[in-house]
Amino acid sequence: MAPPTPLNATPHLLQFLRTLHSQSLTQEAKLDWPSLPEKCTDAFDDIMRDKFVALDQDKCELVYHILRSINATTVVEAGTSFGVSTIYLALAVAENARREASASVKGRVIATEKEPSKASEAQKNWERAGAEIEGIIDLRLGDLRETLAKDLGVVDFLLLDIWAPLAEPTLKLVQPHLRPGAVIMVDNTIKAASTYEALFAHVDAPESPFRRVTLPYEGGLDMIVYQGRP
Ligand SMILES: C[S@@+](CC[C@H](N)C(=O)[O-])C[C@H]1O[C@@H](n2cnc3c(N)ncnc32)[C@H](O)[C@@H]1O
Repeated sequence: MAPPTPLNATPHLLQFLRTLHSQSLTQEAKLDWPSLPEKCTDAFDDIMRDKFVALDQDKCELVYHILRSINATTVVEAGTSFGVSTIYLALAVAENARREASASVKGRVIATEKEPSKASEAQKNWERAGAEIEGIIDLRLGDLRETLAKDLGVVDFLLLDIWAPLAEPTLKLVQPHLRPGAVIMVDNTIKAASTYEALFAHVDAPESPFRRVTLPYEGGLDMIVYQGRP
Protein backbone atom coordinates (compact mmCIF):
# COMPACT_ATOMS: atom_id res chain seq x y z
CA MET A 1 0.00 0.00 0.00
CA ALA A 2 1.28 3.48 -0.87
CA PRO A 3 2.29 5.53 2.20
CA PRO A 4 -0.12 8.36 3.09
CA THR A 5 0.56 11.83 1.76
CA PRO A 6 0.20 14.86 4.03
CA LEU A 7 -1.04 16.91 1.07
CA ASN A 8 -4.59 18.16 0.89
CA ALA A 9 -4.78 18.09 -2.91
CA THR A 10 -6.88 16.53 -5.67
CA PRO A 11 -5.84 13.14 -7.12
CA HIS A 12 -5.23 14.97 -10.40
CA LEU A 13 -2.73 17.37 -8.78
CA LEU A 14 -1.01 14.55 -6.89
CA GLN A 15 -0.56 12.71 -10.19
CA PHE A 16 0.78 15.88 -11.85
CA LEU A 17 3.35 16.28 -9.06
CA ARG A 18 4.44 12.64 -9.40
CA THR A 19 4.94 13.20 -13.14
CA LEU A 20 7.08 16.30 -12.55
CA HIS A 21 9.25 14.48 -9.97
CA SER A 22 9.68 11.57 -12.32
CA GLN A 23 10.80 13.87 -15.18
CA SER A 24 13.29 15.51 -12.82
CA LEU A 25 14.74 12.18 -11.66
CA THR A 26 15.06 10.93 -15.25
CA GLN A 27 17.10 14.02 -16.15
CA GLU A 28 19.27 13.74 -13.02
CA ALA A 29 20.06 10.08 -13.66
CA LYS A 30 21.72 11.15 -16.92
CA LEU A 31 23.95 13.74 -15.24
CA ASP A 32 27.50 12.87 -14.24
CA TRP A 33 27.61 15.14 -11.20
CA PRO A 34 31.34 14.82 -10.32
CA SER A 35 32.35 15.92 -13.81
CA LEU A 36 30.09 19.00 -13.89
CA PRO A 37 31.64 22.48 -13.86
CA GLU A 38 31.75 24.34 -10.56
CA LYS A 39 28.44 25.73 -9.32
CA CYS A 40 27.64 29.41 -9.87
CA THR A 41 29.60 29.50 -13.14
CA ASP A 42 28.18 30.17 -16.61
CA ALA A 43 29.25 26.68 -17.73
CA PHE A 44 27.27 25.07 -14.88
CA ASP A 45 24.23 27.29 -15.50
CA ASP A 46 24.30 26.40 -19.23
CA ILE A 47 23.97 22.71 -18.37
CA MET A 48 21.26 23.33 -15.75
CA ARG A 49 19.11 25.65 -17.88
CA ASP A 50 16.78 22.85 -19.05
CA LYS A 51 16.98 20.75 -15.85
CA PHE A 52 14.37 20.56 -13.12
CA VAL A 53 16.73 19.50 -10.27
CA ALA A 54 13.52 19.40 -8.22
CA LEU A 55 13.56 18.73 -4.51
CA ASP A 56 12.75 15.03 -3.99
CA GLN A 57 9.09 14.17 -3.44
CA ASP A 58 9.55 12.88 0.13
CA LYS A 59 11.41 16.08 1.06
CA CYS A 60 8.69 18.22 -0.55
CA GLU A 61 6.07 16.35 1.46
CA LEU A 62 8.01 16.92 4.69
CA VAL A 63 8.35 20.61 3.87
CA TYR A 64 4.59 20.80 3.25
CA HIS A 65 3.95 19.07 6.59
CA ILE A 66 6.23 21.48 8.48
CA LEU A 67 4.59 24.51 6.86
CA ARG A 68 1.20 23.25 7.98
CA SER A 69 2.43 22.57 11.51
CA ILE A 70 4.02 26.02 11.99
CA ASN A 71 1.08 27.70 10.23
CA ALA A 72 3.37 29.47 7.77
CA THR A 73 1.73 32.16 5.66
CA THR A 74 4.85 33.92 4.34
CA VAL A 75 7.45 31.70 2.74
CA VAL A 76 10.61 32.43 0.76
CA GLU A 77 11.91 29.91 -1.76
CA ALA A 78 15.55 30.33 -2.75
CA GLY A 79 15.79 28.48 -6.06
CA THR A 80 12.54 27.84 -7.95
CA SER A 81 13.62 26.25 -11.22
CA PHE A 82 10.49 24.74 -12.88
CA GLY A 83 8.47 25.43 -9.77
CA VAL A 84 7.92 21.90 -8.44
CA SER A 85 8.68 22.54 -4.74
CA THR A 86 6.86 25.89 -5.09
CA ILE A 87 3.60 24.01 -5.69
CA TYR A 88 3.96 22.27 -2.30
CA LEU A 89 4.81 25.55 -0.59
CA ALA A 90 1.84 27.30 -2.17
CA LEU A 91 -0.58 24.48 -1.33
CA ALA A 92 0.45 24.56 2.34
CA VAL A 93 0.35 28.35 2.56
CA ALA A 94 -3.05 28.50 0.83
CA GLU A 95 -4.42 25.92 3.27
CA ASN A 96 -3.00 27.84 6.26
CA ALA A 97 -4.43 31.14 4.99
CA ARG A 98 -7.85 29.50 4.45
CA ARG A 99 -7.90 28.34 8.06
CA GLU A 100 -6.96 31.76 9.46
CA ALA A 101 -9.74 33.41 11.44
CA SER A 102 -8.87 36.78 9.93
CA ALA A 103 -9.82 37.05 6.28
CA SER A 104 -7.13 39.72 5.86
CA VAL A 105 -4.36 37.09 6.07
CA LYS A 106 -3.28 36.29 2.54
CA GLY A 107 -0.64 33.66 2.07
CA ARG A 108 2.46 34.46 0.05
CA VAL A 109 5.25 32.35 -1.43
CA ILE A 110 8.12 34.48 -2.68
CA ALA A 111 9.73 32.42 -5.43
CA THR A 112 13.11 33.26 -6.99
CA GLU A 113 14.66 32.26 -10.30
CA LYS A 114 17.35 33.94 -12.34
CA GLU A 115 16.81 32.03 -15.62
CA PRO A 116 13.88 33.54 -17.58
CA SER A 117 13.21 30.28 -19.47
CA LYS A 118 12.96 28.32 -16.19
CA ALA A 119 10.70 30.95 -14.63
CA SER A 120 8.42 30.72 -17.65
CA GLU A 121 8.22 26.90 -17.36
CA ALA A 122 7.48 27.30 -13.66
CA GLN A 123 4.55 29.59 -14.42
CA LYS A 124 3.14 27.04 -16.88
CA ASN A 125 3.41 24.31 -14.22
CA TRP A 126 1.63 26.50 -11.67
CA GLU A 127 -1.18 27.16 -14.15
CA ARG A 128 -1.52 23.44 -14.72
CA ALA A 129 -1.48 22.83 -10.94
CA GLY A 130 -4.78 24.72 -10.80
CA ALA A 131 -6.72 27.38 -9.02
CA GLU A 132 -5.73 26.19 -5.52
CA ILE A 133 -2.43 28.07 -5.70
CA GLU A 134 -3.59 31.02 -7.77
CA GLY A 135 -2.62 34.40 -6.34
CA ILE A 136 -0.23 32.91 -3.76
CA ILE A 137 3.07 32.99 -5.66
CA ASP A 138 5.12 36.18 -6.00
CA LEU A 139 7.76 35.19 -8.58
CA ARG A 140 10.88 37.35 -8.56
CA LEU A 141 12.96 37.01 -11.69
CA GLY A 142 16.66 37.81 -11.40
CA ASP A 143 19.53 37.24 -9.00
CA LEU A 144 18.00 36.52 -5.61
CA ARG A 145 20.72 38.57 -3.91
CA GLU A 146 18.92 41.54 -5.46
CA THR A 147 15.32 40.35 -5.69
CA LEU A 148 15.16 39.35 -2.01
CA ALA A 149 16.59 42.66 -0.84
CA LYS A 150 13.14 44.21 -0.37
CA ASP A 151 9.50 43.57 0.49
CA LEU A 152 9.71 40.32 2.40
CA GLY A 153 7.46 41.06 5.36
CA VAL A 154 7.70 38.68 8.32
CA VAL A 155 9.00 35.36 7.06
CA ASP A 156 7.84 32.04 8.59
CA PHE A 157 9.84 29.67 6.42
CA LEU A 158 12.81 29.71 4.04
CA LEU A 159 13.60 26.89 1.62
CA LEU A 160 17.28 26.91 0.63
CA ASP A 161 17.24 24.77 -2.51
CA ILE A 162 19.85 26.84 -4.26
CA TRP A 163 23.43 26.27 -5.44
CA ALA A 164 25.29 25.78 -2.15
CA PRO A 165 27.60 28.85 -2.32
CA LEU A 166 24.48 31.05 -2.34
CA ALA A 167 22.94 29.49 0.78
CA GLU A 168 24.79 31.59 3.36
CA PRO A 169 24.34 34.99 1.65
CA THR A 170 20.66 34.18 1.14
CA LEU A 171 20.12 33.28 4.78
CA LYS A 172 21.87 36.48 5.87
CA LEU A 173 19.59 38.50 3.58
CA VAL A 174 16.40 36.90 4.92
CA GLN A 175 17.51 36.60 8.57
CA PRO A 176 16.35 40.09 9.70
CA HIS A 177 12.84 39.20 8.51
CA LEU A 178 12.52 35.80 10.23
CA ARG A 179 10.02 35.47 13.03
CA PRO A 180 11.04 33.52 16.15
CA GLY A 181 10.28 29.88 15.45
CA ALA A 182 10.80 30.28 11.70
CA VAL A 183 12.15 27.19 9.97
CA ILE A 184 14.83 27.00 7.27
CA MET A 185 15.30 23.79 5.27
CA VAL A 186 18.51 23.13 3.32
CA ASP A 187 18.96 20.32 0.80
CA ASN A 188 21.93 18.02 0.28
CA THR A 189 23.71 18.91 3.50
CA ILE A 190 25.53 15.57 3.84
CA LYS A 191 26.37 14.97 0.18
CA ALA A 192 27.50 18.56 -0.42
CA ALA A 193 28.70 19.27 3.15
CA SER A 194 32.03 20.76 2.08
CA THR A 195 30.25 23.42 0.00
CA TYR A 196 28.10 24.47 2.94
CA GLU A 197 31.00 25.47 5.20
CA ALA A 198 30.07 29.17 5.26
CA LEU A 199 26.42 28.40 6.01
CA PHE A 200 27.27 25.99 8.82
CA ALA A 201 29.82 28.42 10.31
CA HIS A 202 27.12 31.09 10.42
CA VAL A 203 24.38 28.85 11.83
CA ASP A 204 26.58 27.00 14.35
CA ALA A 205 28.50 30.08 15.62
CA PRO A 206 28.55 30.65 19.39
CA GLU A 207 25.56 32.82 20.42
CA SER A 208 23.88 32.01 17.10
CA PRO A 209 20.09 32.39 17.15
CA PHE A 210 19.84 29.18 15.10
CA ARG A 211 19.69 25.49 15.99
CA ARG A 212 19.97 22.80 13.34
CA VAL A 213 19.53 19.09 12.90
CA THR A 214 20.45 16.95 9.89
CA LEU A 215 17.64 14.64 8.83
CA PRO A 216 18.52 11.30 7.20
CA TYR A 217 16.95 11.98 3.80
CA GLU A 218 18.82 11.22 0.56
CA GLY A 219 21.97 13.36 0.55
CA GLY A 220 21.00 14.94 3.90
CA LEU A 221 18.34 17.55 4.64
CA ASP A 222 18.94 20.14 7.35
CA MET A 223 16.18 21.64 9.43
CA ILE A 224 17.22 24.89 11.07
CA VAL A 225 15.09 26.74 13.61
CA TYR A 226 15.46 30.46 14.20
CA GLN A 227 15.01 31.10 17.91
CA GLY A 228 14.88 34.89 17.73
CA ARG A 229 17.20 37.36 19.40
CA PRO A 230 18.09 36.46 22.99
C1 LIG B 1 18.00 23.18 -7.17
S1 LIG B 1 17.20 24.25 -8.27
C2 LIG B 1 15.66 24.58 -7.47
C3 LIG B 1 14.68 23.45 -7.57
C4 LIG B 1 13.29 23.79 -7.04
N1 LIG B 1 13.36 24.23 -5.67
C5 LIG B 1 12.36 22.62 -7.14
O1 LIG B 1 12.31 21.80 -6.20
O2 LIG B 1 11.68 22.49 -8.16
C6 LIG B 1 18.07 25.76 -8.01
C7 LIG B 1 17.63 26.88 -8.95
O3 LIG B 1 18.22 28.11 -8.50
C8 LIG B 1 18.45 28.93 -9.62
N2 LIG B 1 19.48 29.93 -9.28
C9 LIG B 1 20.81 29.76 -9.25
N3 LIG B 1 21.43 30.91 -8.90
C10 LIG B 1 20.44 31.84 -8.67
C11 LIG B 1 20.44 33.20 -8.28
N4 LIG B 1 21.60 33.84 -8.05
N5 LIG B 1 19.26 33.83 -8.15
C12 LIG B 1 18.09 33.18 -8.40
N6 LIG B 1 18.02 31.87 -8.78
C13 LIG B 1 19.18 31.21 -8.93
C14 LIG B 1 18.91 27.98 -10.69
O4 LIG B 1 18.73 28.51 -11.98
C15 LIG B 1 18.06 26.73 -10.39
O5 LIG B 1 16.95 26.69 -11.26
